[in-house]
Amino acid sequence: MEPAHNKAGAKPGFEEYDYSNFYYGAGDDPLNLLTPFARWWRDAVPNGYYLYQEALEDAPTTHVRVRNGKTKQVQDLLNLASYNYLGISYRPEVKQAAIEAVEKYGLGASGSPILSGTFGIHERFAEELAAFKGKEATIIFPTGYSANVGFISALMRSGDTVFLDQYSHASIVDGAILAKSKTVFFRHNNPLDLERKMARVKGKKLVVVEGVYSMDGDVCTLPEILEVTKRHGARMLIDEAHSTFLFGPNGRGVAEHYGLDKEVDFHLGTFSKSLGGQGGFVCGSQDLIDYVVAFSRSRFFSCNLSPVLVAGLRAGLQIASEEPELRAKLWSNVAFLRRRFEEEGVDIGKSNSQVMPVMVNNDAKVFAVAEKIQDRGLFLNPVTYPAVPKHKSRLRISVSAAHSEEDLEKAVGIIAGVLREEDICR
Ligand SMILES: Cc1ncc(COP(=O)(O)O)c(C=O)c1O
Repeated sequence: MEPAHNKAGAKPGFEEYDYSNFYYGAGDDPLNLLTPFARWWRDAVPNGYYLYQEALEDAPTTHVRVRNGKTKQVQDLLNLASYNYLGISYRPEVKQAAIEAVEKYGLGASGSPILSGTFGIHERFAEELAAFKGKEATIIFPTGYSANVGFISALMRSGDTVFLDQYSHASIVDGAILAKSKTVFFRHNNPLDLERKMARVKGKKLVVVEGVYSMDGDVCTLPEILEVTKRHGARMLIDEAHSTFLFGPNGRGVAEHYGLDKEVDFHLGTFSKSLGGQGGFVCGSQDLIDYVVAFSRSRFFSCNLSPVLVAGLRAGLQIASEEPELRAKLWSNVAFLRRRFEEEGVDIGKSNSQVMPVMVNNDAKVFAVAEKIQDRGLFLNPVTYPAVPKHKSRLRISVSAAHSEEDLEKAVGIIAGVLREEDICR
């Protein structure tokens, strides 16, 4: 019998497929991978099993027009999918700074940062960021992804060990792979498991954690994990992609929130989340940054960030530094949404931040749920394996300071209504 959620035209069992089914192919020709995937793809898109890469037609504000991936129709949607946690990307000051920069510099940097691609504006921004983070120096990368890849592989070698939380972002895992060091995963946010695993390992060790985990929205159990790290003579990198500019008295991140900013060795962040731009960075001592400049392949074999972006990011950093009320509004929005989800019986896992997973826990149903939610006016992305474990599929919410309580109430109504119809909440 076809499951109730299966949509007309979907082949029985069809919805159980994911990318892991297409990873290997028969024969010696790499092109052999294409045919089975293309066959699946031709069915998946019209049947609503690929609700990704839907094109936005406006700035990622709280409301956005999105081209539906299945129907190709443009829909007016309330947006809870974009990272723009402080609503900075489209602020007039940010746009004006970028406009002035494009007039002055043209479009791009036209060079690697170690050759012709560093401009005075990059240096000024790096200094301002170091001052904001209370550190001696900063290195800027083209993306947050390349910051993790470049930093970890600059510091670690084959024979060394990188300890990663099991829910680490792919860029952290890829950094360890490029370093050719041994990778040991410990249970999510679990210092006891880290202890067990570190006890067996000798040599140079790096522990990597995230301030806020990107798919679960829970905050790192930093004090306990740092204690284990230090006791084993290891160093720690904290990836504050989702927490810089949001957590801590000065907005420096989760390490500052716990009063452990000085104890953590290496601090990484991105400009793509709270600043609504693009790029990544690592802050630390001048000696550390000088070394990483020399050894981070993902940075020096890549073009530098456009000065146009950097101009916008400088304006964004100024807003994030000078308007703490934005953070206060974000946290009051988060508290409002959490309370309303609790009242409605919507499961948001262990989230205690602006990243909230709406747990569906059903890999077959999650696309039908996402499609219904979108058809009722809300833009949210489904997340399935391999971004999260199998049977832990979810829709991921990014709350912004720019949302009003009316926006959030409308989102709760749509989400709870659909989840009830699909028997996912009470
Ligand atoms: C924890 C974490 N680190 C790094 C990145 C990569 O950042 P970017 O998108 O700026 O490349 C992400 C992106 O989602 C992330 O969640």
